[in-house]
Amino acid sequence: MSEQSIFTLAVHAGERSTETTPLTGPDAGRSYTPVVTPVHHSVGYIYEDTEDLDAVFAGASENPVYTRYGNPTVNAFEAAVASLEGGAAALAYSSGMAALHGALLAAGARAGAAVVAAQDVYGATYALLDRLLASQGVTVRFVDVADLHAVSATLQELRPVALLAETVSNPLLKVADLPALARLSHEAGATFIVDNTFASPVLCRPLRLGADYVVHSATKYLGGHGDVLGGVVAVGRPEMRRALNEVNKLLGANLAPQEAWLAHRGLKTLPLRVERQCRNAAIVAEWLNTHPQVEKVNYPGLSSHAQHALATSLFGGERYGAMISFDLAGAGRAEVFRFMEALRLIQPATTLGDVYTLTLYPAMSSHRALDPETRRRIGIGDGLVRLSAGIEEAEDIILDLKQALRVL
Ligand SMILES: Cc1ncc(COP(=O)(O)O)c(C=O)c1O
Repeated sequence: MSEQSIFTLAVHAGERSTETTPLTGPDAGRSYTPVVTPVHHSVGYIYEDTEDLDAVFAGASENPVYTRYGNPTVNAFEAAVASLEGGAAALAYSSGMAALHGALLAAGARAGAAVVAAQDVYGATYALLDRLLASQGVTVRFVDVADLHAVSATLQELRPVALLAETVSNPLLKVADLPALARLSHEAGATFIVDNTFASPVLCRPLRLGADYVVHSATKYLGGHGDVLGGVVAVGRPEMRRALNEVNKLLGANLAPQEAWLAHRGLKTLPLRVERQCRNAAIVAEWLNTHPQVEKVNYPGLSSHAQHALATSLFGGERYGAMISFDLAGAGRAEVFRFMEALRLIQPATTLGDVYTLTLYPAMSSHRALDPETRRRIGIGDGLVRLSAGIEEAEDIILDLKQALRVL
């Protein structure tokens, strides 16, 4: 059978694989299955034959035994993400940060090892590397991943255990050349970890382009409704999931069953939402690009974007994502605050990828962990605003931006 569309996969993936219950009474021998995987709140599982339980502990099977080791509701969500990312398996976490931490540890980030990362990763990812892992003896180096020569030289110099990049960076919307970075990573013996949160599997499936671990903050597009905090790592081979799970059995950064259920429910409309969000973002980015109070718009769909051609080749030419960032002309913190406070429809909330259109001031929130000098060096100015397009009508989003810009 040819590969199913992502619209079809999103609706069905992960469901009805583990929930068959034998019928009792006269129909014994047959079974029934719920259409939607239920929420398994049970922490423990009992086995009729203790040898079966022993086999789970020995790692011979992945049946449930204790929710920190695995849970059927969480497994269903994991199977769905693996399928959407074109992977073999996935492991879910309590947040996107936990997923990144789990992936880095499983890749071998420990005292004496090195990790190379894109210089404009999400602020907390930067701090995880620069503060936490570095303080534990990991050598951390940030590079501009658009400069492949610099990446290659750094990888050859440090021979790191991992290279970490975001498909589309936060908040500058730079697009990473994933096939080239995968090749350079593997030549240097490094695991290539890709944070695909901004792109989502609707735009891009990094495992197919050479990534080893694909990480998501499931809090964003996968969940999509601003009501669940979660993370997930998709991998190309089942044994890689086992390695992640061995680490996580000790970290205990598990996605809770109720949250997994919500995220899985969100996933079913992921392609529908992202399609509309990308359409809205393209319209809003074009409008902002001609506005006299806007100095610069970062959006991979604009022909003026430095990596527009790369984005077209990676994302297929129809969609360029639903995240935009823009510099308000001559603005600093006070002007950005006035602009954000004047918005009526658009929510100034610290998240992205929701059905609602959202704005955020990176210097105050997502990239607060970086000192002002580092922010400036990587291009995050004091007038930079990030916008996550929702599923509303594009014209309504523009009307709100228009009236808010008038206060400046
Ligand atoms: C690109 C990216 N990766 C990871 C994270 C961390 O995700 P979470 O907030 O679910 O821990 C975020 C959060 O904003 C993000 O934007």
